[in-house]
Amino acid sequence: MLKNLFAKLKKTNFIVNYRQMWPFIRPYWPVALLAVFITIPIGALDGVIAWALKPYMDVVMLEKSTNTLWIPVLIVIFSATQSALTFTASYTNAWVGNRIASDVKIKLFEKLLQFDTSYFDTNTSGNVVMRFNRDVDSACAGLLHNIKQFSTRFFSSVTLLGVLFYNSWQLALIAVIILFAALFPLTQVRKRIKDINQQSVFTNAEVLTHYNESFGGNRVITSYNLYDYQTARFDDTLHRVFKLGMKMVQRTGMLSPLMHFVVSLGIALVIWVGSWLILSHQITAGNFVSFVAALILLYNPIKSIGNSFNNVQIALMAMDRVFELMNNVPQIVDAPNAEQLTNISGGIEYKNVGFSYTREKQVLENINLKINKGETVALVGNSGGGKSTFVSLLPRFYDVTQGQILINNKDIRQYSIQSLRQQMSIVFQDNYIFAGTIRENIMLGKKNATEEELQNAVHNAYVDAFVKDLPNGLDTQIGERGSLLSGGQKQRIAIARAFLKNAPIVILDEATSALDNKSEAEVQKALDNLMADRTVIVIAHRLSTVRHADKIVVINYGKIAETGTHNELINNPNSIYGALYHAQMK
Ligand SMILES: Nc1ncnc2c1ncn2[C@@H]1O[C@H](COP(=O)(O)OP(=O)(O)OP(=O)(O)O)[C@@H](O)[C@H]1O
Ligand SMILES: [Mg+2]
Repeated sequence: MLKNLFAKLKKTNFIVNYRQMWPFIRPYWPVALLAVFITIPIGALDGVIAWALKPYMDVVMLEKSTNTLWIPVLIVIFSATQSALTFTASYTNAWVGNRIASDVKIKLFEKLLQFDTSYFDTNTSGNVVMRFNRDVDSACAGLLHNIKQFSTRFFSSVTLLGVLFYNSWQLALIAVIILFAALFPLTQVRKRIKDINQQSVFTNAEVLTHYNESFGGNRVITSYNLYDYQTARFDDTLHRVFKLGMKMVQRTGMLSPLMHFVVSLGIALVIWVGSWLILSHQITAGNFVSFVAALILLYNPIKSIGNSFNNVQIALMAMDRVFELMNNVPQIVDAPNAEQLTNISGGIEYKNVGFSYTREKQVLENINLKINKGETVALVGNSGGGKSTFVSLLPRFYDVTQGQILINNKDIRQYSIQSLRQQMSIVFQDNYIFAGTIRENIMLGKKNATEEELQNAVHNAYVDAFVKDLPNGLDTQIGERGSLLSGGQKQRIAIARAFLKNAPIVILDEATSALDNKSEAEVQKALDNLMADRTVIVIAHRLSTVRHADKIVVINYGKIAETGTHNELINNPNSIYGALYHAQMK
């Protein structure tokens, strides 16, 4: 059985995971070792207490001597020691477990930030919380706790078994055989619960995502009266969580009762055989009492060793998942000898670029475009045509699937990603505002900016126009996702952030779409400030904002349909841009 167990542990990648786990354990290994080894005396003391009953019984009961006061005293001392050790074990265990869990979480968090953009496209927020947070707790703190439980019970069982053999080998043999019979089902646990455990993690992640969506999507839910719909979806997920929980209980819940039953059979058998052994003077009454005491004490650890073993298995599965994340290799990383990109004197060139998010659908095809230093290029075209995708290839949110993008005549994959992104200020249509103050949000553009630089950015982005009316000015708290601001105010903060970064390439993706005409005129001035003397790619639906661009590129359904200046395009009677422009001007 042990061999079998070992093989099972190996199959759980326990050995492999342990090796990966080691760097996290190493700083705390003495305490970790203490936390585990301290369970040996704790378990073993159970045996001492049972063992002491034999001399006690034999001396008091048979010899009628009172020279045994030392035995109760000893029992008290042992019990007190055991309690103190148990406390130490719980404390060291929690300390090491939580320390390791924090370290792993930090490492995973760093990892999460480095994951490819596509990871965030295909994963849910609930999933991230479950796998980066809860799984780590259960893989580190949970695992240690359960190992402690398991090994206390194990050593308690071993010493109690020793007491059994000390008192009567015949009875002990019976007990051992029954014990092994009782332990057998444990070897089946992992196989039975693996897929349920996996499903349960993902379903619990869905629950968390529901909470997140109810938070983030609150306005939509309210305005479309989606209460019943949301509740029904939540209810459906919870129901699945419940069913999985019950399935888990079905598959593991019978283990303890089963062992309980087998062990009681053993006790009955032992008492029956034991009486016979006493009567035939093969063992003393003291032996028998001590034996039964040990057996009864043994009953508890054996009964719950099943549960501990389950829990260790569940923790190991969590560890599997943690290392799956740990071993996730991002696709978009620096090339081995990546160069630093320090300027963009040579301009930007898209050369035969093709891109698809998924196999099924080509989003960009055969894109060829040169953008010289200092030029402003406007992208227009149908919604879903690929404009945002086009610009997201430049900072390498995604890598091209065909062709290449060059800066200074060199493939951007040859530059370090950080230096590449350092050259770009990006203002998105939907800019993420972090909880905190306006100042903190703008300072994200350049964390060590001086007050003067900050004021400059605030002024150029027309942020001061609304900040001056706020009692706390730049230090006003703006709520999670900037919920206390208007859409246009958020955009201006994003523009100020981009100003502060002061990068030579500016990418504007519908940066003024959330504004009314008057504010747009203001923000347009802000943008004109931002675009001055820089290389700019601007995406806009409102064509009035792009007419001054050096080059207008129409991207229709993934292809460049036409290129030219405003005047060239509107004077061409077949131009798509011309038709769009005239339609909008009406
Ligand atoms: N992360 C993604 N994963 C898979 N497909 C995507 C992703 N982002 C966009 N797409 C798809 O790629 C195509 C181009 O989208 P893109 O956002 O580039 O269009 P767009 O021209 O910017 O549109 P709009 O003017 O409406 O902003 C669309 O069909 C869209 O469904
Ligand atoms: Mg877009």
